[in-house]
Amino acid sequence: MAFEVTPLTPMIGAEVSGADLGQLSGAEFAQIEQAFLDHLVLFFRDQDLSVEQHMAFGQRFGPLHIHPAANDYRKYAGLPPEILRIHADENTIWTAGDKWHTDVSCDPQPPSISILQLETVPPTGGDTLFANMYAAYEALSEPMKSMLAGLTATHDGGPNYRDRAQKAGVDVSQKTYPRASHPVIRTHPLTGRKTIYVNATFTTHIDGIPQDESDALLGFLFNHIAKPNFQCRFKWQRNSVAMWDNRCALHHAMWDYYPQVRSGRRVTVTGDRPFH
Ligand code: SIN
Repeated sequence: MAFEVTPLTPMIGAEVSGADLGQLSGAEFAQIEQAFLDHLVLFFRDQDLSVEQHMAFGQRFGPLHIHPAANDYRKYAGLPPEILRIHADENTIWTAGDKWHTDVSCDPQPPSISILQLETVPPTGGDTLFANMYAAYEALSEPMKSMLAGLTATHDGGPNYRDRAQKAGVDVSQKTYPRASHPVIRTHPLTGRKTIYVNATFTTHIDGIPQDESDALLGFLFNHIAKPNFQCRFKWQRNSVAMWDNRCALHHAMWDYYPQVRSGRRVTVTGDRPFH
């Protein structure tokens, strides 16, 4: 094996040492792919990737995804549309991902993988938390699994992206954002394992049942998936890279470092249409 892979917790996350993501051989890439499926989230230190290298690494997994809200903000100007700028400083009034979510689950084909590199990190804070949704599914009782098995839920980008735009004073009144219905329990296309696929950022309701029943069920699931025993927590350094599997892991980017600067860029790989 080319690299050392050290788990952060038995549940989720591993740090890979010795890799240069800018120049991986086919065999090295295959080791990373397997470790990624095994650990759901991988972390790498000291990756001084250019924009081109960052995009090229993402493209080895599939076509890159373009974020539906990326053009809402001037700060993205000058970057390729496949790059999502992640930035917070003393003028920031909202940050990306400061709530449990999986990326852009409102898309009919939501992103499979996200790859984030941070160039500037705060002196302390700004960790990202990740949670294993296979484990969350497997921890449910059999009657609950049966009840959720055939259900779908609506994921709507509008409320989240409009709220951000309003806070930033950006007029998006003419814009439409993606909205899609996905299985509440989806099957990972590569591992064949079942995973809970709802999140408080995008999932507005479970389809075909009254709103009060949907609220109760989603309330239960949002509490369940946020239990600490499913999680790991990553402490960033300058030029750390994290890549996570949006099909089976949630993440939460902790904004506890205001007014310090935290800055980097993300590429995201287009995924499959989720299936039961
Ligand atoms: C995100 O992509 O949701 C943000 C992750 C982070 O800033 O750690």
